[in-house]
Amino acid sequence: TGLITLDEGYKNTGATTSGITFLDGEEGILRYRGYSIEELAEKSTFLEVAYLLIYGELPSVKEFEQFKNEITVHTLVHEDIKKILDGFPSNAHPMGVLSSLVCTLTAFYPESLDPNRSADKVNLSIIRILAKMPTFAAWAYKNEVGHPVNYPDNSLDYCSNFLKMMFALPAEKYEADPVVADALDKLLILHADHEQNCSTSTVRIVGSSKASLYSSVSAGINALWGPLHGGANQAVIEMLEAIKADGGNVQKFIDKAKDKNDPFRLMGFGHRVYKNFDPRAKIIKKAADNVLSKLGVNDPVLEIAKGLEEAALKDPYFVERKLYPNVDFYSGIIYRAIGIPTDMFTVMFALGRLPGWIAQWKEMREKNEPIGRPRQIYTGSKIRSYVEMNKR
Ligand code: CMC
Repeated sequence: TGLITLDEGYKNTGATTSGITFLDGEEGILRYRGYSIEELAEKSTFLEVAYLLIYGELPSVKEFEQFKNEITVHTLVHEDIKKILDGFPSNAHPMGVLSSLVCTLTAFYPESLDPNRSADKVNLSIIRILAKMPTFAAWAYKNEVGHPVNYPDNSLDYCSNFLKMMFALPAEKYEADPVVADALDKLLILHADHEQNCSTSTVRIVGSSKASLYSSVSAGINALWGPLHGGANQAVIEMLEAIKADGGNVQKFIDKAKDKNDPFRLMGFGHRVYKNFDPRAKIIKKAADNVLSKLGVNDPVLEIAKGLEEAALKDPYFVERKLYPNVDFYSGIIYRAIGIPTDMFTVMFALGRLPGWIAQWKEMREKNEPIGRPRQIYTGSKIRSYVEMNKR
């Protein structure tokens, strides 16, 4: 079988070459297609960033208009998907609902299963999933709260439409606050891609078997769900709430995180690649201050988060291990301030990460990468003879 190199968790193994996202963990640099995350967060919009990631270049005015129009045309989902939604219990976690609904697109668009279809048809799948994910995400929430679903409003931009589908009630007039829509747009940009993380690698490896875009993204959503990955944003707020309920003693939780006999970890801290700082966390921390003050929200957990960060960054345990706040540490505070419920935080991450998953899936397909199939080093029993059950 030849020599197999063992690298559990792929800490040092590159699985692909990629021209999408550049990341330097020592210097805290993140760029999409060569553009710095700081500049994109300040000047661009989420849909423009989606175009950049997927097609490789910033769009011209005409290209962008066409892209937006195509997405707008496809925001509606098949009425029968509502019946599938109705089958979920109201306490279903919205991430499970989202991944399931995304996977139903394989049933409503079976042509997406054909690995040999034309580039135009692949592009239609890309447009459809970008257009329909906000609808699914908002409907997963509506299922939870027992409200009727809202249909997309194609007169609105991507984020305002999502917010309306989330929050509008039939008996009330709803208009998204531009401060809220802008804050959401910025958060989605910051989450849009992060090279070969767990969910993106999942999308690529599922897609490498020539599975459809929809089933590959559905698998990515499930990978993102875990608390060590995207699920951390929900876990952070739960942790900050627990600290608050406990009287605000951050040191107690830091000590708990340091205790090797305790499985507790400081959520929103540490990163596989960033060993200096996470550039997204810096932008989000500033944005959290900004958005909360613009909205006049006073959230005591923001102060707890800052206190926790300060204390952890002084602690030799965190310093030696180069553990810094990551993207998930402050994002939940913004989501909460703009009215997103805690168990929807990871769904928001999925909405943001979607263009990255698509771009990586597309790149992998266009490069005609071989099927992903890691090796192993076997540590089980040597050959033995079968023993009849009554003799065991
Ligand atoms: N709290 C306490 N100790 C930690 C933490 C933490 N948050 N993160 C890492 N460590 C310790 C870990 O116990 C280990 O210590 P030792 O060397 O004594 O055994 C050392 O630091 C290295 O950690 P690791 O688990 O080997 O590092 P990793 O690269 O495998 O894991 C991580 C990276 C992000 C999974 C991890 O830092 C973690 O669990 N963080 C908390 C969850 C979190 O915030 N996840 C979001 C990640 S960023 C966005 C995303 O991916 O979605």
